[in-house]
Amino acid sequence: MRTIAISNNKGGVGKTTSTVNIAAALQILGYKVLVIDIDHQAQSSYHLGIDPNKVKYSVYDVMSGEVEYKSIIVDRNGLFVLPANTSLRNIEFLPVPAKEFLLREALEGLDGYDYVLIDCPPSLGVLTLNALSFSNEVIIPLQVQFLPFHGMYNLFEALDMVKKRLNRHIQVCGIIGTMFNAKKDINREVLEETERRLPGKLFTTLIREHTALQEAPSWGKTIFEYKPDSLGAKDYMNLAKEIVARKTNQ
Ligand SMILES: Nc1ncnc2c1ncn2[C@@H]1O[C@H](COP(=O)(O)OP(=O)(O)OP(=O)(O)O)[C@@H](O)[C@H]1O
Ligand SMILES: [Mg+2]
Repeated sequence: MRTIAISNNKGGVGKTTSTVNIAAALQILGYKVLVIDIDHQAQSSYHLGIDPNKVKYSVYDVMSGEVEYKSIIVDRNGLFVLPANTSLRNIEFLPVPAKEFLLREALEGLDGYDYVLIDCPPSLGVLTLNALSFSNEVIIPLQVQFLPFHGMYNLFEALDMVKKRLNRHIQVCGIIGTMFNAKKDINREVLEETERRLPGKLFTTLIREHTALQEAPSWGKTIFEYKPDSLGAKDYMNLAKEIVARKTNQ
């Protein structure tokens, strides 16, 4: 079982879009996949057609020990989801020590999936730390523009801290260049700079800027359900194949 956090403390870089569509691509490739939405914005739940306002028990209740994870996993045509709702905001106020390990403890014994993908919120707060404590790998979506690239350094510092103090197994599986537009010089420059500073980490597949990827969430559909022949579907399928091939040595 590969456990992968999709994380970047910068907002709006394609974490949710990537989590949902990589998960869907992996399912099409024949893998059993669980998506965990650990963002109180609940965007990946929404993207997968689950209305967060109707989610009675979310990953928050699993983490706080209220319910067992098995009882609230949603089977969405063979793609499994542990949904979020806004109560995830309350994790910070739970009166328990070592809050970074709540998810790992609650999911002890989780088995039977080939891939577990966790959609993280845009911060390095306690929810992201829970995802990083649980996961063996992290995938970083990078919107290939100047500012997000610089913000990524905080994330690497945080990953060093996580490795030292919370989870010595965590490794960076790879960096996804998202919202790529070949016409913009800055996109190429950021990719070249990323390759120079973090050699071998960028996936070869780039996720191109594509309107259908923006439209699919409002239909509650993955790109493969919404527009299976689109550029977005093609890119996420190629990326998923690369992720399968790029096994980190655990
Ligand atoms: N390849 C793409 N082409 C065009 N639009 C995209 C692409 N990827 C993502 N988007 C759009 O960009 C916005 C941000 O993407 P997304 O929600 O996946 O980012 P995020 O990192 O999860 O954001 P947050 O930090 O708020 O959780 C969304 O409106 C999404 O539809
Ligand atoms: Mg998101």
